[in-house]
Amino acid sequence: MVFRPAQKILPSEITPKSVYLNRRTLLAGSAGAAIGSIMPSVAHSAGENTRVLQKLETRPSEYSNEDLEPTAKEYITSYNNFYEFGTGKEDPARNAHTLTVKPWSIKIDGLVNKPGEYAYEDLVPAVQEDRIYRFRCVEAWSMVVPWVGFQLSEILDKVEPLGSAKYVAFETLVRPEEMPGQSGLFQALEWPYVEGLRLDEAMHPLTLMATGLYGEELPNQNGAPIRLVVPWKYGFKSIKSIVRITLTEQEPPTSWNIAAPREYGFYSNVNPRVDHPRWSQASERIIGGGLFAKRKPTLRFNGYEEEVGDLYAGMDLTKFY
Ligand code: MTE
Repeated sequence: MVFRPAQKILPSEITPKSVYLNRRTLLAGSAGAAIGSIMPSVAHSAGENTRVLQKLETRPSEYSNEDLEPTAKEYITSYNNFYEFGTGKEDPARNAHTLTVKPWSIKIDGLVNKPGEYAYEDLVPAVQEDRIYRFRCVEAWSMVVPWVGFQLSEILDKVEPLGSAKYVAFETLVRPEEMPGQSGLFQALEWPYVEGLRLDEAMHPLTLMATGLYGEELPNQNGAPIRLVVPWKYGFKSIKSIVRITLTEQEPPTSWNIAAPREYGFYSNVNPRVDHPRWSQASERIIGGGLFAKRKPTLRFNGYEEEVGDLYAGMDLTKFY
């Protein structure tokens, strides 16, 4: 884990004993992570809550990076950050099968004409878009992900933001009984995980609500059933398993900024010229590129400068990091 100075904590110290014992049984009972990766339509091979991932109906999009080679699905679904399920990269794939993702609804409130508790089915279009995007984590690794989703602007148009709305705040589910990272003595972050965008960023056509990848529903570890994807910002802006969207006048608090304000700002646009206080952002490690793959130079706005550069005209991006 790179986000915080390394801490070595035994699972038995951070998880209630029942969950810990149960997890050990699950691990002992499965042949390990490999099975999950060769059975593409099953979210997890162990446990009772195994979820079959449905194929999704999609259409092509002009915003998709069709020229990029997607990272292998095995990496996208087994190397994750989802602290509600633990801080290790393999923890989400191992633990997230416990999450119940149906039924699901999103509460939309704040400065909108049509607030309410919206069922997943009322927000997600029957036919969604295939969007291949670059994905750059603040930890200086990257992937290429073939998402399935629709523009966040479609949701916002439906609920009609008021003229006074300037920001959009997001919240992840809090459910400690299904999210082992939210229970126990050691809590990596304050819950719920919260994120935010400026309204014009949220309305941008590249800003996606993803419900799938590789043509199927999202595996739990990738933020099922619905998560944000903002391809020109560091991955932590792309909040998972969203249950609430609030339109606000003030800039909303964000989880990593609360945890370490000097290290993680509200904007968090990918920027090779603004280093993290503890490491360089000039280049990135390609996940799935093999042991001897060369690091790749990081692109400004993660390669989306032409599309989004105007949003930040006149802003000092070293100050608004
Ligand atoms: N959302 C929630 N709720 N909890 C998290 O810990 N991690 C973030 C982001 N969204 C995180 C989250 C970080 S740091 C990254 S890099 C991406 O999710 C990882 O997405 P992936 O696992 O699908 O690659």
